Amino acid sequence: MSSAVDNHAYDAIGTGYARRRQPDPRFASSLYAALGDASTVLNVGAGAGSYEPDDRCVIAVEPSNVMIAQRRPASAPVVCARADALPFPDASFDAVMAVLTVHHWPDRRGAFAELRRVADRRVVLTFDPTVHNCMWLMDYIPEIAQLESARAPSIGEVLDAIEGESVVVLPVPHDCRDGMTIAHWRHPEAYLDDEIHLGGSALRQVDRVALHRGLARLARDLHSGRWFRKYGHLVQHSELDCGLRLVVGARRG
Ligand SMILES: C[S@@+](CC[C@H](N)C(=O)[O-])C[C@H]1O[C@@H](n2cnc3c(N)ncnc32)[C@H](O)[C@@H]1O
Repeated sequence: MSSAVDNHAYDAIGTGYARRRQPDPRFASSLYAALGDASTVLNVGAGAGSYEPDDRCVIAVEPSNVMIAQRRPASAPVVCARADALPFPDASFDAVMAVLTVHHWPDRRGAFAELRRVADRRVVLTFDPTVHNCMWLMDYIPEIAQLESARAPSIGEVLDAIEGESVVVLPVPHDCRDGMTIAHWRHPEAYLDDEIHLGGSALRQVDRVALHRGLARLARDLHSGRWFRKYGHLVQHSELDCGLRLVVGARRG
């Protein structure tokens, strides 16, 4: 099930997404626990289908046809639409989930209102830009921090918008399978590999000159040992708080 939505950003940056971004099982289990006993679930900004539970009735919403084309034949039925105009009646799902997508929504206010309208339970996996922007990669490419500060909502905004009840910190494991921008915090050399770093939207959308300048400096620091002197303590950690947060809300009263 799909129809056309106007040319979408992910039609340009979404190529190869399903190859580079696999659901990480640790994030998935926290997400499934947060969905509670919901048996009908709407997945908004569903992309290629990562994190869609296979033991519940799921409908996906995704505006980019490039992302829709990467969904597996067996994945949930998908409707081509945007979060701010969900083509479903009020309260048509037990729960709505939105994973790593809210920072891409141009009309966030309208979109959050839609989440509240279609489901009593709302589960949003996002990142706290203030924590995210402390990761060492931003020392090399501060323009990524500027981009995320400009487009990502604060956790307070998400809490208010979905009538949030709880915020769960999801530390990023050192072997994170979901190749988002911060995923390679313990593997700096990964950022020098085009195939790997093209998984993160910030790395694809940040100014090219800034990206190449930062990556060239990273390459020099890895070669000279400067990176390890400054950040080498990280190799002792198996997981790190890079700002990922699971925000869960439910209708009050
Ligand atoms: C980083 S991907 C995440 C996809 C998927 N949720 C996942 O975890 O792999 C962000 C997704 O949000 C979608 N998106 C962007 N703007 C949107 C909007 N206004 N409404 C709904 N989805 C949107 C993009 O097309 C893209 O598929």
